[in-house]
Amino acid sequence: MNVSKLNQRLFFILLVCNCDNGMSDSGCINSEKEEMLSRLSSKLAYIAAEIQETYSLLKNKNMSISGLQRDCLALLETGSTQIGVYNISVTGTDRTPVWCDMDTDGGGWTVFQRRIDGATDFYRGWDEYRDGFGDVTHEFWLGNKQIHALTSAEDTELRIDMEDFQNIPFYAKYQRFAIGNATDSYRLDISGYSGDEGN
Ligand SMILES: *[C@@H]1O[C@H](CO)[C@@H](O)[C@H](O)[C@H]1NC(C)=O
Ligand SMILES: *[C@@H]1O[C@H](CO)[C@@H](O)[C@H](O)[C@H]1NC(C)=O
Ligand SMILES: *[C@@H]1O[C@H](CO)[C@@H](O)[C@H](O)[C@H]1NC(C)=O
Repeated sequence: MNVSKLNQRLFFILLVCNCDNGMSDSGCINSEKEEMLSRLSSKLAYIAAEIQETYSLLKNKNMSISGLQRDCLALLETGSTQIGVYNISVTGTDRTPVWCDMDTDGGGWTVFQRRIDGATDFYRGWDEYRDGFGDVTHEFWLGNKQIHALTSAEDTELRIDMEDFQNIPFYAKYQRFAIGNATDSYRLDISGYSGDEGN
């Protein structure tokens, strides 16, 4: 078993406003301009207040605009303690099924790779590594795009759990883990090793 996962300590809110203010003043004449501007300005004030309210509501619940949590740690902190598949929203607009490990080392780990028995072929091209592949309940790669989004927003820990040929488990942990964006060729940035490898 070879499991790689992320743990994050903070939460990030993405707010997208897509509002139709319903203006239809095509026949407006000069003497009405002032009134129109005043109506527009109160509409804008109203919208701004709505946005402010929605923002703090979501922020208090640690939620993104999609209503989904952004990672497994946020799910754990809001009371989801079951190990398994959850939908998260990494960027605030996506819906991404992930495996959450709520057990190992305090829980809240977003698993981005699992290899068990070779059921999934990991010899893949750039596009598939970018978008992810496999079965989230078994063997899979979450996708460079998603891992970049997860690791670029907040400080992220990485833990890798493995078994040797005698099925003895060992792990490696890194305090800091991030991968760059696509133009940066998803460059790896990793440091702060601890673990029990070689014991
Ligand atoms: C939101 O996240 C913060 C920091 O991760 C945590 O301390 C807080 O308990 C969370 N709030 C809720 C309602 O889960
Ligand atoms: C994730 O979302 C999809 C699409 O809405 C839904 O079919 C699926 O049941 C959800 N999975 C979980 C674990 O909630
Ligand atoms: C990609 O990352 C590099 C290095 O951090 C940064 O300079 C660049 O602006 C980023 N490009 C995009 C499109 O985000």
